Amino acid sequence: KGKLKTVWVCESCGNSDGQWWGSCRSCHKVGTMKRFSEGSEASVSGGSKGTSFGVTEGGTGLSWLPEQAMVQPHRLTDVIHGITQQQWRFSLPGHFGNEVARVLGGGLAPGSLILIGGDPGIGKSTLLLQLASIIAEGSELVEQAPVLYISGEESVEQIGSRADRMKIQTEELYLFSSSDLQDILNKAHRLSPRALIIDSIQTVYLKDVTGSAGGLTQVKECTSTLLRFAKKSNVPVFLVGHVTKAGDIAGPRVLEHIVDVVLYLEGEESSAYRLLRSVKNRFGSTDELGVFEMSNSGLEVVSNPSAIYLSQQNPDSDVLAGLAVAVVMDGSRSFLIEVQALCSPGSTVSRHVNGVQASRADMIIAVLMKQAGLRIQENGIFLNVANGMALSETAGDLAIAAAICSSFLEFPIPHGVAFIGEIGLGGEVRTVPRMEKRVSTVAKLGFNKCVVPKSVESSLKALDLKDIEIIGCKNLKELINAMF
Ligand code: TYD
Ligand code: MG
Repeated sequence: KGKLKTVWVCESCGNSDGQWWGSCRSCHKVGTMKRFSEGSEASVSGGSKGTSFGVTEGGTGLSWLPEQAMVQPHRLTDVIHGITQQQWRFSLPGHFGNEVARVLGGGLAPGSLILIGGDPGIGKSTLLLQLASIIAEGSELVEQAPVLYISGEESVEQIGSRADRMKIQTEELYLFSSSDLQDILNKAHRLSPRALIIDSIQTVYLKDVTGSAGGLTQVKECTSTLLRFAKKSNVPVFLVGHVTKAGDIAGPRVLEHIVDVVLYLEGEESSAYRLLRSVKNRFGSTDELGVFEMSNSGLEVVSNPSAIYLSQQNPDSDVLAGLAVAVVMDGSRSFLIEVQALCSPGSTVSRHVNGVQASRADMIIAVLMKQAGLRIQENGIFLNVANGMALSETAGDLAIAAAICSSFLEFPIPHGVAFIGEIGLGGEVRTVPRMEKRVSTVAKLGFNKCVVPKSVESSLKALDLKDIEIIGCKNLKELINAMF
């Protein structure tokens, strides 16, 4: 009989520790360490219940190190051969397929376990139904093959009517509404699909594992089981994971360590635009970004993504003066923020800021007057950040300055220009952390110009990013000369 070993797992980052701590020693969040027993009864008796492909075979409880679950010692030459096999990808046809394939790192790797996280209602099921359809349909070069779409949230009829609305009529797409993972994998084994989709990981459960579906134990154990299935069968498996508000339900963050690829589908509630980001990829680069728009017939690729960051009111008419785009980081993700400035000459000389630190704004205004000679003394100045976001990074200084100049000079900044840089008291433009990541996001979103500190201009140019011009500025005077 296996012993029960207790560990504590951080709900937020998935770090595990042999001891309880008030805050996670890895991500430093407070109160996120949850008790977890390794080697439950299930795994002790697991051997007898193994199916032909060994769902519970070799059950040593939960695979803290997923590699342990699947890896046997390998001959080097086999490994090298295996790697070349691993590089073979199933390419995803069409506009939509290409965009997803790019985020996945160039196609669908066999046997990969892919987690798609996102808020409830953001469009994960929609995305995966579309994906299931194109994977099943194949292309001119690849024949149709079955794809199995499992939903624990919707009935087959519900998925069917959704697919019907999206005009999906793929012969080889199989739907199954179930949350019993053992049963699901038995069906999958029989069908031998080209891909398996589990919507969502929070609804499936293993009979032999304690806890209810959606709980940390079930979610981790089910994911490990699916990892073993993917590696044994070479079938790529997609998991949907709802990002839950901090609570006792295991969020997908805990699973990030187990799976091969983590994608997040993000977007504002009020907007139809969706970003698909890769935050982890064992088979390719992270930082990939796909841009989609939710339509009546599912997700469509946005061909000119830079436009979605401009004020929504008038996407086609003339650009307004006083708008500039900044690039900020949230953890390891970069995203864009639009800064709006309004300089109104005369009567009330006052300042109002929204979404920008008031002291930072005051400093930038003072520097603009003193070091760049901008005569904005007599103006009321309003600063605002679009969509109620907050700009807390100094990396946004340059965009704030540019927005103020643009409004004051009544000279609109053209479409597709972004600004990254901190401003010092001498009016100098300074570099900020992760310049490369920020600039590559801007390039991927279809911007054609990026204004950066002079000191990093040449190293950024050396990146050789497609279709984007890097403009280095030493100080605010150079910014004004370059832009206005
Ligand atoms: P869904 O994929 O169900 O979200 P998730 O699986 O992430 O919870 O999609 C949710 C929203 O998308 C829903 O409010 C309706 C909308 N939607 C469209 O606008 N167009 C469509 O074609 C589909 C299928 C859904
Ligand atoms: Mg869904």
